[in-house]
Amino acid sequence: MERVYIKNLRSMKTFAKKFAKTLSGGQIVLLRGDLGAGKTTFCQFVAKTLKIDEPITSPTFTLLKDYEGRVLNMSHFDLYRITNASEVQEFGFDDYIFNTPKDRVVFVEWPDNVGEDYYQGVKTTNITIEKVDDNARYVTLEEK
Ligand SMILES: Nc1ncnc2c1ncn2[C@@H]1O[C@H](COP(=O)(O)OP(=O)(O)OP(=O)(O)O)[C@@H](O)[C@H]1O
Ligand SMILES: [Mg+2]
Repeated sequence: MERVYIKNLRSMKTFAKKFAKTLSGGQIVLLRGDLGAGKTTFCQFVAKTLKIDEPITSPTFTLLKDYEGRVLNMSHFDLYRITNASEVQEFGFDDYIFNTPKDRVVFVEWPDNVGEDYYQGVKTTNITIEKVDDNARYVTLEEK
């Protein structure tokens, strides 16, 4: 487990870029943290390194968006509005988690809204962002 202090948005960009370079496809990245912690912002910085040209939006109302990148493709889920696992069946969340395409990295905001047990037996990268003040954050990185 790694826990780093991030002093501002610029340091978050540097951290996200470094993280993005470790990705090779097939990873599932679970992003935790309060509203406004910086989960989507982190994904946006990662997307730049993966050479995704389309802007990463906050998909709160769409739940899922797939992006094509020239380094790796990305899928971005925001389960904020989900209250249980059955609600994600219709858009194939299962496939992304249990049969992750190797040319793709899957990012999930609010992953525990489908229940923490959902990811049992699946290799995940767990990132938690804690807000310190307007600019500073603590980021915890843990492979499970
Ligand atoms: N060091 C930092 N790291 C990340 N975001 C930061 C930092 N400093 C300031 N911010 C700002 O904090 C906000 C984070 O918003 P963001 O939408 O990324 O949060 P979120 O965790 O995705 O929230 P939600 O749960 O609502 O989706 C942005 O406006 C961003 O510019
Ligand atoms: Mg978000």
